Amino acid sequence: MARYRHTEVSTAHPAWPQRGLWALAWGLAVAAMLHFLWTTYWKYAPQDAAAYGMFWTRRAWLWTHVGGGAVTALLGPMQFVGRLRIAYPRLHQWTGRVYLCAMLVACTGAAGLIVTSLGGRAFQIAFAATALAWLVTALKGYTAIRQGRTQVHRRWMIRNYIVTLAPVAFRLALQVPGVMALANPAVLIPTLLWLSWALPLLVYELGTAATRWARRAPSPQGDPA
Ligand code: HEM
Repeated sequence: MARYRHTEVSTAHPAWPQRGLWALAWGLAVAAMLHFLWTTYWKYAPQDAAAYGMFWTRRAWLWTHVGGGAVTALLGPMQFVGRLRIAYPRLHQWTGRVYLCAMLVACTGAAGLIVTSLGGRAFQIAFAATALAWLVTALKGYTAIRQGRTQVHRRWMIRNYIVTLAPVAFRLALQVPGVMALANPAVLIPTLLWLSWALPLLVYELGTAATRWARRAPSPQGDPA
């Protein structure tokens, strides 16, 4: 059949069991993100110095950062729902624009927090690298869609959303029993900040490569998959 002769392999609709694994991964990521936003809200809702700790004198930067970050975290998942995107393409475009603007607002807040941070140089570099990864993946995704390269856009925006979830992964990593005993916090915290987006990105790249490999592998009947 003609559709089997396509040479460009799309990972938009991977076959089972890959589809099930992706759905599970996305479901867990969204649940962890909602939990992160919920706990963050209750942590910073009380307007007092004790609740804010080291952020009290920098709370304007924190609000800017968390406000923008929360919008990106909440809007991201709906951008990946294929049926919604197909049924309402204009909604997808406008939500995408709001997502990118919110990301820039969050980055402005992050820049303020990085510059005023007392955490040390390694800590500042780790956060700056995260911000750079966030901006670069968004720029690649945006440029791709302006050029009409939908699949490329999709893959870069998945990478971008993985970076959006870095603080969620970071906070989860801190809760792993015994993790804080692994090294001096001055080394451990920046390392975990790097890993919070680099490791999920690596898993994504390996998962995508495995999906492509599985779809290219000949089926038992000898048809190209
Ligand atoms: C992905 C790029 C991001 C970067 C580069 C970044 C950077 C930062 C920086 C520099 C701080 C201050 C850390 C300190 O001084 O101790 C911070 C704190 C924080 N960020 Fe982000 N952030 C990012 C994404 C997000 C997102 C998407 C959210 C979601 C709302 C978020 C929520 C928070 C919260 C709640 C804090 C306060 C610390 C805490 O209570 O855990 N960040 N971030």
